[in-house]
Amino acid sequence: MSKNVLILPGDGIGPEIVAEAKKVLDKAIALFGLDISYSDGLLGGASIDAHGVPFADDTREKAKAADAILLGAVGGPKWDTIDRAIRPERGLLAIRSELELFANLRPAILYPQLADASSLKPEIVAGLDILIVRELTGGIYFGEPRGIRTLENGEREGYNTYKYSESEIERIGRNAFEMARKRDKRVCSVDKANVLEATILWREVMDRLSAEYPDVELSHMYVDNAAMQLVRAPKQFDVMVTGNMFGDILSDAAAMLTGSIGMLPSASLDKNGRGMYEPCHGSAPDIAGQGVANPLATILSVAMMLRYSLDMTEAADKIEAAVSVVLDLGLRTGDIMSEGCRQVSTGEMGDAVVDALR
Ligand code: IPM
Ligand code: MG
Repeated sequence: MSKNVLILPGDGIGPEIVAEAKKVLDKAIALFGLDISYSDGLLGGASIDAHGVPFADDTREKAKAADAILLGAVGGPKWDTIDRAIRPERGLLAIRSELELFANLRPAILYPQLADASSLKPEIVAGLDILIVRELTGGIYFGEPRGIRTLENGEREGYNTYKYSESEIERIGRNAFEMARKRDKRVCSVDKANVLEATILWREVMDRLSAEYPDVELSHMYVDNAAMQLVRAPKQFDVMVTGNMFGDILSDAAAMLTGSIGMLPSASLDKNGRGMYEPCHGSAPDIAGQGVANPLATILSVAMMLRYSLDMTEAADKIEAAVSVVLDLGLRTGDIMSEGCRQVSTGEMGDAVVDALR
């Protein structure tokens, strides 16, 4: 049966990088005879401009009917001053939440060719292969009550709620343990159990779950220490599992270890493996429209999509191999540029991956 992919280019550099990812997907479809059809939709600022809201019904219906979604990025200064309830980011959070895409997988893998582009010494990052499993539909991002209120003394106060139910913790925990089973069988659960009750429960549930996965080693780490360890000795980690906000922060830090956030793909999955795929980086409005953005994170997101939601493993492997070939050839966008390499544009990078895909 034909698989249906919804493509949401979004804002800023989103359309440019998604265009390159589409070229690669088209080549994979032709090369491997994949039965994939796709449609386009709007999300974020692009949707605000067209419909007045960041996640409109048309996109909602297409998203619910899709087998997988490929997203560029959302947001930009143009929409920073509008009512916060309809900012572009709210569209992203709404689509994640409504489709129950609770498991966000963010692999931080250092391509050996990029060891020089990392901000850390090559020996500290060589061979790095971490998977961050971030809870994506709960925690402080969604907890109610939330808002900005005026106190009796006339002063305003902003407030949010950090909460996790046992079942929310359990389902993301299972995901992390299952992922670890296919890797080095180690899970580090990151919390702030020395201060926050929500994460005291988080730790308790992880410990309980761990009894069902005796083959996987579970450790716990406070988030501040985890941030430090990520830049001190990142190779100690295999799978890291954590809540929504900590995962947001730690995954950006982990991304830099790999040379550039422009290299990091992600998958956001529901309980049946249906998912949305997006680069971890944002819409980078400062470089939008200049043809300098790195399309590799989006191209690698296509590979994750083929692997996790569409069961097309061979094509996924081949796309990842093609990215490696292109790096071997010394082609680099500005963000990963280093001496002796050739700097290329967004489009040239996409074309090179298409060429290398065989
Ligand atoms: C991410 C982004 C989003 C998040 C923003 C754009 C809402 O930073 O996907 O990491 O915080 O989840
Ligand atoms: Mg983020």
